Amino acid sequence: MNPLFRLLQFSRPYRGRLAAAFAWMVLYALGAAGLAKLIQNVFDEVLKSGQNLVFVATAIVAANVCKGVGGYFSAYLMSDVGQRVVMDVRNRLFRHILNQSAAFFARRSSGQLMSRITNDVGQIQQAVSETIGDLLRESLTLVGYVAYLFILDAKLALVFLTGAPLVVYPLARLGKRLRKTSRRSQEELEHLSHVSAEAFTGHRIVKAFATEAHEAGRFGTVADRLYRANMKATAALSALPAIMEVLGGVGMAAALWYGVKEIAEGKLTSGQFASFFAALFLMYGPAKKLSRVNANLQQAAAASERIFEILDMHSEVVDHPGASAMPRLSQAIEFHDVRFNYDDDLSHKILRGVSIRVAAGEMVAIVGRSGAGKTTLVNLLPRFYDVTGGSIAIDGVDIRDVTIASLRSQIGIVTQETVLFDDTIAGNIAYGSAGASQEEIEKAARAAHAHDFIAALPKGYQSMIGERGQRLSGGQRQRLAIARALLKNSPILILDEATSSLDSESEHLVQEALANLMANRTAIVIAHRLSTVRRASLIVVVERGRVVEAGRHDELLSRPGGAYAKLYAMQIVAGRRPLDVPVGQLNE
Ligand SMILES: Nc1ncnc2c1ncn2[C@@H]1O[C@H](COP(=O)(O)OP(=O)(O)O)[C@@H](O)[C@H]1O
Ligand SMILES: [Mg+2]
Repeated sequence: MNPLFRLLQFSRPYRGRLAAAFAWMVLYALGAAGLAKLIQNVFDEVLKSGQNLVFVATAIVAANVCKGVGGYFSAYLMSDVGQRVVMDVRNRLFRHILNQSAAFFARRSSGQLMSRITNDVGQIQQAVSETIGDLLRESLTLVGYVAYLFILDAKLALVFLTGAPLVVYPLARLGKRLRKTSRRSQEELEHLSHVSAEAFTGHRIVKAFATEAHEAGRFGTVADRLYRANMKATAALSALPAIMEVLGGVGMAAALWYGVKEIAEGKLTSGQFASFFAALFLMYGPAKKLSRVNANLQQAAAASERIFEILDMHSEVVDHPGASAMPRLSQAIEFHDVRFNYDDDLSHKILRGVSIRVAAGEMVAIVGRSGAGKTTLVNLLPRFYDVTGGSIAIDGVDIRDVTIASLRSQIGIVTQETVLFDDTIAGNIAYGSAGASQEEIEKAARAAHAHDFIAALPKGYQSMIGERGQRLSGGQRQRLAIARALLKNSPILILDEATSSLDSESEHLVQEALANLMANRTAIVIAHRLSTVRRASLIVVVERGRVVEAGRHDELLSRPGGAYAKLYAMQIVAGRRPLDVPVGQLNE
């Protein structure tokens, strides 16, 4: 379907307003055509014999008032509809993007996605709020003039209308070109947004590596490409008035030649001719505006295509028809021969048949070198991705047979990189637990060992923490994330290297907070320090997407040459306190 036509569907809820706008446009067009008619009266009556001066003068004012009032209300209403449509498209796009799978987000940067919401939607804004209004109003006006021309002199009018395709053809050609160049410039704009978002979020690394000039160069290159794309569009756009100018001149000359002949033969009064000529002259304005309309619409079409591209994407992870709510975990989570690869390229298998049973209320640890597939494995449980083989079941029910919302509501996640929002501390702890009371928030903060540092802040729980919690230390951020998970109170917990990035002191606090969090919950813990793992009722060692060993700490340690024993031995070789060396460091 034509993207513009699809875009128009968004204006359906506002039919009433559109109809009202249309009525005002009719008034505008009537006023415009009336003016052309009045010119005849000026020449044939007022100027010739002096009669009807008051009537004609009043009528001229009245016609202009119709044009003014009709123009105002129609423009206002059309603009209103346009803004509403743009708002609806934006809201829909945002919601749609948020509902996409993790795979979708892994393929695109947030800068690119933001560009669709701001730049592409912005591009259609002009089209729907102004251009469509222009199109309707100016077309109506043209129809008014043409009708008047026919009434005046049908033959003369026909002569001119046969010239119309001469105007339309080059405009259509230009429009096509413009759609292509416009798409290019939207793509470059997206690229620009990507480059700047990346540089700004990574500003500390940019500074640390002194690569400001490099980043500026990257930005400059894209900016230059955007400039070129824009100039291509401009070249096409600037040709429009020129074409209209030339064609308009030819039309006038032809009218003059023909008109003079007709007057000489007595077929037209000079008033009629003046009126005809004036109508032609007046048509020039709307025609010029209309010539731009197509150009604007083509630009909007290019942007709409990009918007619908996203709206037509459907998340691969969706609720199956008939999915029911998942009851609270009571027996076990079972990974059964789970296989997974990120790309369709089957040669790069990330998980190759992992089976793990996590009994309710137990803590299972997953250890292994970085890149082994641990994070991938735990991301399958909340269905950030769906398994490509095997299955995951909770209490015997495949997680693909329950609703995603009910599944995720049972799972709390704390990862190495905490994600906090630019909100107050209280707002961050209560994120996802709408309606939590101040007492509940404080209770969670205490259990997460966060209360003391929060209370020491000048504004306490109402302190703003900055984007991604920049105003807090790593350990403080981590404890807030734990408080958030505590408040959510989900029975299943995933800890993915939750203490990896912390120094020993804050790690100690975070460990205690985590112990509070894990109490009475079923936990899957990806441990980066083997010290955390000792208490686990089951330790699973993963290597290259396979489980190579499973058992309790002492059991695994007593296997000479076993994978776990090796990991453990390497920690001792590293020359630190044996239980305190991150597994991750072993790879370096
Ligand atoms: N979004 C992704 N797309 C493609 N490959 C990925 C993606 N995320 C991780 N990988 C690959 O999957 C493998 C396992 O990664 P991961 O599960 O993060 O390992 P771990 O958590 O054990 O360090 C790695 O080889 C990594 O390159
Ligand atoms: Mg990982």
